[in-house]
Amino acid sequence: MTNPPTQMSEKFEQLDGIWLLKEHLYQENTGQKQLWDQIGQNYYGRGQFNRQPPADYRDAIGRPGGLWNELPIEREYNSILEIGCGDGRASIHLSKNRGLDCQQYCGIDISEPQLRRLQVFKTAYDFYPSAQFTLICMPAKELPLPDASVDLVISDAVFMHLTKTDLCFLMKEVRRVLKPGGLLGFRNSFHNRECLGHIIRNFARRFAPNRNPLYSYQHSLSEVYDLFEQSDLNDPENPIQIKPNGQYRLLPHHLGQKKVPFAQTINEWAKANNFKANRSVYSFDVYNW
Ligand SMILES: C[S@@+](CC[C@H](N)C(=O)[O-])C[C@H]1O[C@@H](n2cnc3c(N)ncnc32)[C@H](O)[C@@H]1O
Repeated sequence: MTNPPTQMSEKFEQLDGIWLLKEHLYQENTGQKQLWDQIGQNYYGRGQFNRQPPADYRDAIGRPGGLWNELPIEREYNSILEIGCGDGRASIHLSKNRGLDCQQYCGIDISEPQLRRLQVFKTAYDFYPSAQFTLICMPAKELPLPDASVDLVISDAVFMHLTKTDLCFLMKEVRRVLKPGGLLGFRNSFHNRECLGHIIRNFARRFAPNRNPLYSYQHSLSEVYDLFEQSDLNDPENPIQIKPNGQYRLLPHHLGQKKVPFAQTINEWAKANNFKANRSVYSFDVYNW
């Protein structure tokens, strides 16, 4: 593991290979950290944290696929930054299933238990075998990396957990740390505010006593464009692409713990028929390759 780069190092302390942001610096993200530490301990109730990693990495990561199967791997990536890396699922997929490697891998996540799990997976599966790993536990906002130092920035299923303000700040930071011509890929990152499934679930949540506090902000398609324009990430040389993630929800699959009857069948039908796409697309991927 390497030092946290340069200018922010006095804000961190290292513990067993992870750089931890000093506690008093969490400020308004303290509640979010507690929540994600708790989830990380017992990953969505699956009690995964203390278990031995499965012998086969595929049993640990599920099927991240999608956008990651389109990332050009013939390019050389000296450095990769992963935002909200969790236990490293997306990177394990990119490395083991797609043969991606790099010299420097920096994983940032707010949850220390998730990063500990990533360490266990690194030992078990040796993903990105040539890379020096820097793991940083902090809210993804100000990035502790030098200007123009990263070849590829990735993130999977994280930005819907950030506030709009934090995300705007973060995207400007991504612009700053990305090398000219660098690539970015954000899979399943922007929940579609116009999706009927979300609208129904948002409405039901208003009446739920223990509503899920994880989800923060949903975007319309035009807001996603605006975000990338405003952060100067939509480079005419490397224009960003926005595409539906592949999941469709005219109806939510669950409301609280209750399964919604026929939702899965109806959603599959909507997907197959591209029915009311702007209303049924669940989330957007953004990339620039
Ligand atoms: C749905 S999980 C996805 C994890 C991983 N990317 C994957 O695909 O398995 C969301 C991740 O975002 C992290 N996270 C949530 N809020 C964050 C924040 N403000 N800053 C950094 N990470 C955050 C969580 O700890 C968690 O690991």
